[in-house]
Amino acid sequence: PFRIEDFKKEVIDGIRATVGDKQVVCGVSGGVDSTVLAVLLNEAGVNVRAIFVDHGLMRKDEGDEVRNNFHRMGVPIETVEASELFLSRLAGVTEPEKKRDIIGNLFIDVFWDAVGDAEMLAQGTLYPDVIESASNAKSKASKIKTHHNRVDRILELQAEGKVLEPLAELFKDEVRALGKSLGIPHDILHRHPFPGPGLAVRCPGEVTQDRLEIIQDCDAIFINKLKDSGWYDRVWQAYAALVPVKTVGVKGDERSYEWAIALRAVISEDAMTADWVELPYQLLRETSHEILNEVAGINRVLYDISTKPPASIEWE
Ligand code: XMP
Repeated sequence: PFRIEDFKKEVIDGIRATVGDKQVVCGVSGGVDSTVLAVLLNEAGVNVRAIFVDHGLMRKDEGDEVRNNFHRMGVPIETVEASELFLSRLAGVTEPEKKRDIIGNLFIDVFWDAVGDAEMLAQGTLYPDVIESASNAKSKASKIKTHHNRVDRILELQAEGKVLEPLAELFKDEVRALGKSLGIPHDILHRHPFPGPGLAVRCPGEVTQDRLEIIQDCDAIFINKLKDSGWYDRVWQAYAALVPVKTVGVKGDERSYEWAIALRAVISEDAMTADWVELPYQLLRETSHEILNEVAGINRVLYDISTKPPASIEWE
């Protein structure tokens, strides 16, 4: 039977043998896989550089949380502050695929600029990613062809045996078990999945600082309510998305004309299909009340009751 302690020892011995005294670079996002990867490398006692690109599309205060978590676990982390750069490139862009392209390409550029001359690179690839990239290799290659030099660099490192993927035999639940045996706290190991393009896919239309802050504030209120009520661990993913349509309301004695916010909570096995969650009315009522009272610019709260398919989990 598969024993995580045996696997951990084996994989750590393997990392030490491959890496020796070279420096290993890895990108971290605060998510489960990259966190387990960084902590594992650190545990193996190798010289690791964990780079966190803050694209400004994270949840409220998430950058600080990620840094604090790494600090708590004793893993040094380097932040590349790129919020303004991402926002300036996204200015005026409303088309979903264009937004994704800009964010994805810029992310690669910013990350590799920070990396410089890497001796070795570690990636948090899991077993399902290995299968997926084998079947998608062709379409992926054409998608990232604008990044010849960067992709060439990874291929070069790979050819030289300098790309480490120590999690590549594991499924998600095994990564969590490994993380647990490495002493990573429960809240980090059981975070909801978060998309690479971040809040941009929850912000239809243009992404601006104002809009991001509204989404962050509403999201934080919703997520805190889910955590306080014990619902957070029972749903696959939950979030707030901006509906940038103005409707009329009353706030105080005045007429208001403001945007709406949509709350979404889904359960899923593998993200291919998803069902919306029948959250208690009381929880929705309290969340709505707090949002309407505290978040300027929102006068209406909606609950998204769409299954996937035909809807997707994210809004873009
Ligand atoms: P959709 O919206 O396609 O999302 O139903 C399915 C799952 O994938 C996540 N997602 C992403 N994850 N990069 C990621 O790493 C992305 O570009 C991306 N887009 C969507 C989404 O949060 C959901 O869990």
